[in-house]
Amino acid sequence: MRAFVVIVFSITCSLFSPIQALDNGLARTPPMGWMHWQRFRCITNCTLYPDDCISDRLFRKMADLMVSEGYLEAGYEYLIIDDCWLAHERDREGRLQPDADRFPHGIKDLADYIHSKGLKFGLYEDYGTKTCEGYPGSLGYLEIDAQTFANWGVDYVKLDGCNSKLIDMPKGYTDFGKYLNQTGRPIVYSCSMSAYFEFKHIPANYKLLSQICNLWRNWEDIQDSYASLKRIVDWYAWRQYRIAKWAGPGHWNDPDMLIIGNFGLSYEQSKAQMALWAILAAPLLMSTDLRTIRPEYKELLQHKEIISINQDKLGIQGKRLPLFISIRENIEVWTRPISPVENGFYSYAIVFYSKREDGHPYAIKFTLRKIGLKNAKGYVVSDVYDSTSGTKILQIDDEFIIRVKPTGVVFLKAIPVAS
Ligand SMILES: *[C@@H]1O[C@H](CO)[C@@H](O)[C@H](O)[C@H]1NC(C)=O
Ligand SMILES: *[C@@H]1O[C@H](CO)[C@@H](O)[C@H](O)[C@H]1NC(C)=O
Repeated sequence: MRAFVVIVFSITCSLFSPIQALDNGLARTPPMGWMHWQRFRCITNCTLYPDDCISDRLFRKMADLMVSEGYLEAGYEYLIIDDCWLAHERDREGRLQPDADRFPHGIKDLADYIHSKGLKFGLYEDYGTKTCEGYPGSLGYLEIDAQTFANWGVDYVKLDGCNSKLIDMPKGYTDFGKYLNQTGRPIVYSCSMSAYFEFKHIPANYKLLSQICNLWRNWEDIQDSYASLKRIVDWYAWRQYRIAKWAGPGHWNDPDMLIIGNFGLSYEQSKAQMALWAILAAPLLMSTDLRTIRPEYKELLQHKEIISINQDKLGIQGKRLPLFISIRENIEVWTRPISPVENGFYSYAIVFYSKREDGHPYAIKFTLRKIGLKNAKGYVVSDVYDSTSGTKILQIDDEFIIRVKPTGVVFLKAIPVAS
């Protein structure tokens, strides 16, 4: 009987064993950095908007602040330029070139500066004929562009998918990944292909993506609003059984940038984004003006414990619990297995996310068992956003009451009691 079980088990394992995921040694935890798009978009008139335009000056300033304000130390290492850095024409040899007025020293010089600060450098291109904003795309130039990027010292490429055909994408994104690899320079590869499939309600090929990309955008761009944040969180929740399993060290689902510090989210909603992005094992790509960010938002972005949960080395993406647990109260429960693992029991990050808008901290009663935690010896539980509250030992059937603010979260961490 035992032998039979072992055989069945090993067959099952080989059938379902994760296929060769991309292993370029990079993004073993979700990438962290700063990306310009959400906050600075395609502002290109530097006469009119000298402080905000997509330019050498903006990125040097952000690089300085990432270091001097402690973001690098907190883990944010990539400074990533999104669309609108390019000139409208390639050079005579067919190579990409930046807009000469806005990047007067060229990209290599900017990359050197960013590296000199101890940061890594990311750059945007598009697989199609043109980028989303109409600058030259990579189609027909994939190999040249990969080499140009490597020559410039690029450490991270975001390859968008505007102005291309779905049917060409799987091969095109695979080829670009090969060309990146052939440069010999380790470059994180972020693929937008999946978003273009999912927009058209065609499930993307995540198996392929996990073999060729370090991260991939699944769906629509985030906008600076709570409505957008909520739509994206819902999208992941409803598709989690299809999508979450493809995340792991080296390859991640990307629900898009953090909008914390901008105009659209309240403080509680900002706490919610930080917490949910930790559950989702999402890349942490800030997109905010580091010159003017308010201290409470900076503190959220640099929250040590949340970052360490987001960056947990097991790399397991969390999920929303089945709705029958939360539907009545309209407060969702999200959990993510994290380290340490004690006697075979995971620790858990647990987020109670209130979809309620009736303006008071709504009280809700739970037991750890109801949330799916099973260690009979109990758990050491702490409130991640309230470090003053200390830790408590809870048995799995102990009832506890939490109060969740409207559109906000309560974020708990539970570590299994070992003995
Ligand atoms: C920038 O805006 C000013 C004022 O509207 C305009 O005169 C100028 O032509 C613009 N420059 C560019 C490069 O578009
Ligand atoms: C290229 O691919 C090989 C095989 O997957 C991998 O071992 C190597 O680290 C890659 N090199 C770069 C620079 O990405």
